[in-house]
Amino acid sequence: RRVLFRSMSVDPKVGWPTFQHAPLVARSAPLGTVARPLPLIVDSDPGLDDALAIAAAVARPELNLLAVTSVGGNADVHHCTENALRLLQLYGASDVPVAEGAVGPLSGPLERATEVHGEGGLGKTVLPPAQRRPDPEGAVALMARLIAASPEPVAVAPIGPLTNIALLIRSYPHLASKISHLCLMGGSVGEGNSSASAEFNIFADPVAAEIVFLSGISITMIGLDVTHHAWVDRSILPRLAALPGRSAKVAAELLTYSFERSAGWGQGERMAIHDLVAVLHLAIPDLVGVARYYIEVDATSGPARGRTIGDAWKHRLVRDGRVPNADVGLTIDRERFADLLVDTYAKLP
Ligand code: BDR
Ligand code: CA
Repeated sequence: RRVLFRSMSVDPKVGWPTFQHAPLVARSAPLGTVARPLPLIVDSDPGLDDALAIAAAVARPELNLLAVTSVGGNADVHHCTENALRLLQLYGASDVPVAEGAVGPLSGPLERATEVHGEGGLGKTVLPPAQRRPDPEGAVALMARLIAASPEPVAVAPIGPLTNIALLIRSYPHLASKISHLCLMGGSVGEGNSSASAEFNIFADPVAAEIVFLSGISITMIGLDVTHHAWVDRSILPRLAALPGRSAKVAAELLTYSFERSAGWGQGERMAIHDLVAVLHLAIPDLVGVARYYIEVDATSGPARGRTIGDAWKHRLVRDGRVPNADVGLTIDRERFADLLVDTYAKLP
């Protein structure tokens, strides 16, 4: 076992995180292969980075995308559902079922990230209307049906607020054993983004997140600790422009919107593609380095609402009778990540 804070290479432009890393360990998440693609459901609130993550879920031959379910988050859930349908159509995957999920959190105020993603969720990009409607049974029932029917356990990549996943766990507890893994984008052991304490997906529904982290299902938390290292800048644009497909043109448009917005906030022209990391972790070995933590969610209404508190100190865990409940993403090879983004769009129409 390596001691991460001595061996990790850190991008000097990003700097050190504000907490001491636990040692990297072998991943718990299953890995799809070309010979045996991983059955996967993506639960999403598209969303600029969600759009890129869904692209990878369609394009990667190691993944078998069973469905995309929507949840209110970055934008209103109806926008998110329509975006999922339009994106799948763009990516040539109109056969992948889509169903609409929760409008808002299990409890607490409705949070939106339209200042980041635009009112409709996809910046200023307008995709051709979808030629189909979502599956009327709804997100949670669709997930349950697909998981129950699958001959092998199904992985889920929740890349929005965890409302649908909590409802799934509460409504169909007998299916928990058929969920091979939750590879979720959300949380942060270090600092947050929606608040100094909390990352958006957890902040938007902390009660749901608490249910998920206490569920006993195998979890990888792809939080800001790793996704803030998974950024691209304008140097990616000529690489996407060189690709023949329409999907790559749309990706360049979404990224450009994001670059301009982040420059306006004084953060430089770059975009951390959070959600894509969670999907790629299920397809690419050794892209993301993980450590084991006990993650506890602050679901109170105080200043740390939505914070994911990560404990990896063995002495304290033993003393308190706690066992780590998640792999937490800490490191990523950023150059390879950028290459994988280009490669994703090279595979799409
Ligand atoms: C997460 O919040 C959303 O705005 C993004 O789509 C991502 O899932 C990052 O904090
Ligand atoms: Ca998202």
